[in-house]
This record gives sequence, C-alpha cells and structure tokens, in this order.
Amino acid sequence: MSDALDVRQALPEAHRWLLETYPRLRWHDAELGEVARFWLQMHGGFRQKQAAMAGQVAAWHAGGDLVSLHRGLIPTLQAYLQHLDGHHRVETGHYFPVMRRVEPRITAGIDLLDADHDAIHGQLEALFKAGLGFHQALASGAPDAADHAAHLADALERASRQTDRHLEDEEDIVIPLITRHADAFAH
Ligand SMILES: [Fe+2]
Ligand SMILES: [Fe+2]
Repeated sequence: MSDALDVRQALPEAHRWLLETYPRLRWHDAELGEVARFWLQMHGGFRQKQAAMAGQVAAWHAGGDLVSLHRGLIPTLQAYLQHLDGHHRVETGHYFPVMRRVEPRITAGIDLLDADHDAIHGQLEALFKAGLGFHQALASGAPDAADHAAHLADALERASRQTDRHLEDEEDIVIPLITRHADAFAH
C-alpha cells in the first residue's frame, strides 16, 4: 500500500514505535512540555478552522445564499491558508532538522511528513485559486458564482481530509519525540 497522503489510512507501522513509549492516552496536558502543548494547540486551531468552513458550506447546502457563504468562509479561508503554510515552513525549516539529528532512527518518518507538506502545499494552492475564483465571480455578478462555490467546497473537502491525516500522523511522531528529547526542544 502506498504511503502517499491521499491514500494512506494511518501512520505506517514502521514509524509508530515512538508512540509505544509515549501513547496518546498519556498526552495529558500536565505531562506534556510547553512545545508539545503548543504544537497540539496549533493543530487544534487548523481542525477548528476546517470544521468552521465545513459548517459554512453545510449552511449553504441547506439553503443559504452565496453572499453569506462568502462572508463566512473567505476570511477563515485566508487565515487557514496563511497559518498552515507558515506552520509547515517552521516545521520543515526548523523542527524537522532538529528531530532528524536527535532521533536519527525516525528519519524515514520525517521524510514522510516532509512529503506530506509538499502534497498539502499543492492542495493549499488549489484552495487559494478556488477561493479567488469564487470571490471574483461573486464580486463581478457572474452567473456561474454557484459553480465556483461548489468547486471551492470540493477543494476544501479534499484539502481538509489530507490535512487531517497529516496532522494526526505527525502528532504520532512529533509529540512522543519532543517528550523523549525535551532538552533539545526547551526554549
Ligand atoms: Fe506538518
Ligand atoms: Fe504540524
């Protein structure tokens, strides 16, 4: 089975060993260090934004109008794109190299997470274009604004599904690793 982000169902077994020493059940707030807690908070923020945008789309499907969809969705979409892109830059540029150094046995797992970032980057670009298309169609009174909204909703669903997979799999590696090597991640 491929490990590609758009088809995998979970973090592959080969990269799950860190979890065995520090399973999710033990990720209680009090036990986690500051960096791990902040990481989970960031991920929680992306999940919340995705859920909020899905809620806007659902309200539109339930009979809402395009103007309300635009007003509710576009500001959240902009913040989501900006924050997720920034988050990935910090991970790939700063944290992942530290992780490769302190825990060389997880290198292939970090490679997988980096590949996820590339895949998600493509999804975010598609999402940006779809958002702009909807915005411009609505602003210009184009007759096909609803088609643009539907296209945006599809792009959102696809990007959210892949991002959800990535967030969870990344946590399975990163949270135990940070906890195990707390000194390397202290501020
Ligand atoms: Fe990531
Ligand atoms: Fe992340």
